[in-house]
Amino acid sequence: MEQLHNWGPEDPRSAGNSPESINTDAWTAYGHHHIQRLTPLTEVEQIGWGPSYTGPGDAILGVLEARRVLNLGCGPARHAAHLARDLSAVVDAVDSSPTQIQRARSRYGDLPGLRLVVADAAKYLSTAVPYDLIYAVNAVAFRGLGVPVLGDSATTGTPVGR
Ligand SMILES: C[S@@+](CC[C@H](N)C(=O)[O-])C[C@H]1O[C@@H](n2cnc3c(N)ncnc32)[C@H](O)[C@@H]1O
Repeated sequence: MEQLHNWGPEDPRSAGNSPESINTDAWTAYGHHHIQRLTPLTEVEQIGWGPSYTGPGDAILGVLEARRVLNLGCGPARHAAHLARDLSAVVDAVDSSPTQIQRARSRYGDLPGLRLVVADAAKYLSTAVPYDLIYAVNAVAFRGLGVPVLGDSATTGTPVGR
């Protein structure tokens, strides 16, 4: 089994010992691992809400052309890139892991309509301007991204999900 890289609280890449920091450190180690390993990722042609691309696909999101969309916990941002590239959405994609955003930037840094941001989801929502749609794929289950946390933090007036 692969060993999870642990930066340790004294490492400058680690933000400390809080649950949020431990969560970010784990995903930062994960992203670092895949950068080093040059893990190939295929493009997505629709939103895959669950394993093996189960779920309602893109249709549940409605028409996204020129809509302001926020993707929380975007990881390498394949879903966010799909919405910007194929459905003409204007997407801000946020992830708390700098290495996950590094993976996204190396691939989609020049993609029109996509902005990639390193930030904690709850903190980002507390100051963000309203969006037409906020969504997350395979990320809500992780620490710090729970719906109650988002509900408490969201001042945008935008429903989380749709
Ligand atoms: C399983 S990955 C999913 C990535 C992407 N949504 C996808 O489906 O390909 C979960 C992502 O959520 C991010 N994440 C976890 N907690 C977060 C938080 N509190 N704020 C922002 N991003 C978070 C992690 O860094 C990780 O990149």
